[in-house]
Amino acid sequence: MKLIIAGSTGLVATEILRQALSIPAITSIVGLARRETSVPDNLRPNADPSKLKSVVVSDFENYPDTVKQQLAGADACIWTIATTPDQLRSMTSEQSRNISLDYMVYGLETMAKVANSPFRFAYISGAKSERDQTKRPMVLPEFCLMRGECENRVLDFAKQSNGRVVGGIVRPGVIDAPGRSNFMLTFAGGLVRAVIGLPKCHVTEISATLLESCITGFEKETLLNEDLIRIGQKSMAERKTGP
Ligand SMILES: NC(=O)c1ccc[n+]([C@@H]2O[C@H](COP(=O)([O-])OP(=O)(O)OC[C@H]3O[C@@H](n4cnc5c(N)ncnc54)[C@H](OP(=O)(O)O)[C@@H]3O)[C@@H](O)[C@H]2O)c1
Repeated sequence: MKLIIAGSTGLVATEILRQALSIPAITSIVGLARRETSVPDNLRPNADPSKLKSVVVSDFENYPDTVKQQLAGADACIWTIATTPDQLRSMTSEQSRNISLDYMVYGLETMAKVANSPFRFAYISGAKSERDQTKRPMVLPEFCLMRGECENRVLDFAKQSNGRVVGGIVRPGVIDAPGRSNFMLTFAGGLVRAVIGLPKCHVTEISATLLESCITGFEKETLLNEDLIRIGQKSMAERKTGP
């Protein structure tokens, strides 16, 4: 199968790529990003780096034909591009929405036109995303509603595609990764997470779940943090893709 990883230079995408390079069922990988995608470190002995094609895009709302040709015939996409709440200090909410929502909608619409059918589209959201746009979330309300709107757009697009596109949403809490420093992963951050009910998973677990879902299908439309741990650990054990 041919897999597109959108935002392939990021934290989660790098682990997805590391695992995907050693899964025989995935024969071709397009790393779509605003800069070159490198082959990750710590590859497993059976990894095949030649499966990766790095595709650089300068405008995420207007792909040139050369990029569309690279996307053609894909069976699945894992979309990881989004802004973080931290970035709201350095950009307006309109810019954040443009990157998180408009880039994704254009990417999905464009890929669906040239992909194989069925085309599985896995969207990484967040544990606190809110789909009901009439609600007012307690924490980061505007951001959580915007991410919920992204989820709605993926699922609506899939529903209207007559089975050509299958959408799946994953909702991690905080993502732990080797060497990652993030307040939410500290002892004090753990207390904050407990208060607001924000779980955590490991980057290897969410990555394995996303790949398993792209290969065999989504167990359910929305996978919560606990699902990511359960499915990811099982998949890594069976496919021998763990660290
Ligand atoms: N990390 C967490 O703890 C966490 C928790 C919950 C949910 N998530 C979600 O998981 C997904 C992946 O997270 P991540 O931590 O892997 O993200 P990341 O490391 O920040 O990477 C995201 C990707 O998006 C690209 N990107 C960011 N801004 C862009 C822009 N303006 N134009 C084009 N590309 C842009 C990045 O490119 P560059 O590499 O060039 O910057 C990178 O390829 C996101 O949807 C995030 O919200 C993450």
